[in-house]
Amino acid sequence: MAGAPVVVEAGAGRGTLAAAVRAAGYPGRYVCVERSATLRAAAAERLPGVEVVADLPPGPLDGVVVANELLDNLPFVLLEREAEGWLEVRVGPGPAEVLTLYGPQGERIHVRARPARSSG
Ligand SMILES: C[S@@+](CC[C@H](N)C(=O)[O-])C[C@H]1O[C@@H](n2cnc3c(N)ncnc32)[C@H](O)[C@@H]1O
Repeated sequence: MAGAPVVVEAGAGRGTLAAAVRAAGYPGRYVCVERSATLRAAAAERLPGVEVVADLPPGPLDGVVVANELLDNLPFVLLEREAEGWLEVRVGPGPAEVLTLYGPQGERIHVRARPARSSG
């Protein structure tokens, strides 16, 4: 629909949010950006008329960029300050209740118990 802002969804997956937006009646251009070729194919099959691409379209953009469940799916590094300095905390291949702490060169510094989860 002319005049409706374009919606660009970053990390569109198989198009669940896009399908909901379409079902709610949004008539404008909707672009699903998804890096997985398999999920792009699923979204394209599910959403005829919706553009499904691998990269953000070039700007400028008259519209909005949205993301749902994208940033919380990206891996991040967890650092903790210990006597040795800043160490990276990883869940190792051992028991789940054990955390392994690594130094800046990736060297294993020590292993310690994982804090108990609070029940509240
Ligand atoms: C949990 S899914 C999002 C689901 C979708 N937004 C929805 O609400 O239906 C997260 C998606 O982000 C995609 N993704 C992660 N990094 C990306 C990137 N740099 N560019 C495009 N997609 C990315 C993943 O492949 C995955 O399909």
